[in-house]
Amino acid sequence: MDLKHIQAPVAEHLKRFEPYFDSQLQSPNRLLTLATRYVFRRRGKRMRPLLVFLAAEAAGGVGEASYAAATLIELLHNASLVHDDVVDETYTRRGQWSLMGLWGGKVAVLVGDFFLARGMEMALDGGHYEILRIVSRAVRDLADGELSQMEHARKMDMTEEAYMGVIRQKTATLIEACTRAGAASAKASGEAMDALAAYGNHLGLAFQIRDDMFDYTPGGLFGKPALNDVKEQKMTLPLIAALRSAPESERRALTRMIRLDPKSDATAEAALEMVSRHGGMEYAREKMGRLAAMAVYDLSALPESPAKEALKDLVEYNMGRTV
Ligand code: IPE
Ligand code: IPE
Ligand code: MG
Ligand code: MG
Repeated sequence: MDLKHIQAPVAEHLKRFEPYFDSQLQSPNRLLTLATRYVFRRRGKRMRPLLVFLAAEAAGGVGEASYAAATLIELLHNASLVHDDVVDETYTRRGQWSLMGLWGGKVAVLVGDFFLARGMEMALDGGHYEILRIVSRAVRDLADGELSQMEHARKMDMTEEAYMGVIRQKTATLIEACTRAGAASAKASGEAMDALAAYGNHLGLAFQIRDDMFDYTPGGLFGKPALNDVKEQKMTLPLIAALRSAPESERRALTRMIRLDPKSDATAEAALEMVSRHGGMEYAREKMGRLAAMAVYDLSALPESPAKEALKDLVEYNMGRTV
């Protein structure tokens, strides 16, 4: 499934979105301009704007407010990545140095704040209060989810249930905000809004599981480091599932390594070995598949349209994506 095909129903909007987005990032400050240009040298997949436009199109049609929603969410998404690399101490992003890696945490925190504030200012200037409300709630959840992940990392007590709660907050709510805001921008009916919101949540959960599987796929071309999560004592689904199936003695031994020496290559290798020996990836893939099926099912309530078909295809694309 290729992305071009999925983008087709809203290709014109995605094209017009780019200069619209860039125009929101002007600043008289030289360092800010340099840092902003650097971040957007690699633009990312633009999956969230795609979702906003497809949801709007499926719910009645893209309008001016859909552009504001797409811009606001893409700005906040990028702010969250710039900040996330500070939190996770990650030096690579989108195949280049992260802002954290290149300019350090102080610059990264301030640049992330700038993106966030610009997004809110733009939405306020346009009077897009409903969209702002939807998105603010998601960003609040995102911060909450990242903190709760840190707390579980510190205590090393992540269960599958807790993990699902964390990824819902840190990732799925913002993806759900895309489809909600897209639907709101098209003045969707209550039924269409509910369907698109449920779809966004399930897709978002599947999306983060896919992301967490990358971390246990060394040598892949994902533009992010592999085997980084365990270094932050971050337990994600492949490892949670593998540890659960492993014999007590193995579980204890690895948990001890992660607790005492999380940053060493030996620990990362041991975690990778545990994941591959005890079916961690298979479990994660199966769970992702179930969530994907739910996302497709959620769309049943919508009338047939090319945008609806593209939303279905996007679910499948996510399962096989390598970026
Ligand atoms: C990365 O999101 C953060 C997660 C929620 C896993 P994306 O994979 O959409 O990031 P870009 O924008 O394409 O780089
Ligand atoms: C998801 O967390 C990103 C945010 C909520 C900002 P991750 O830490 O898993 O994302 P990546 O892998 O760094 O993109
Ligand atoms: Mg993180
Ligand atoms: Mg991270």
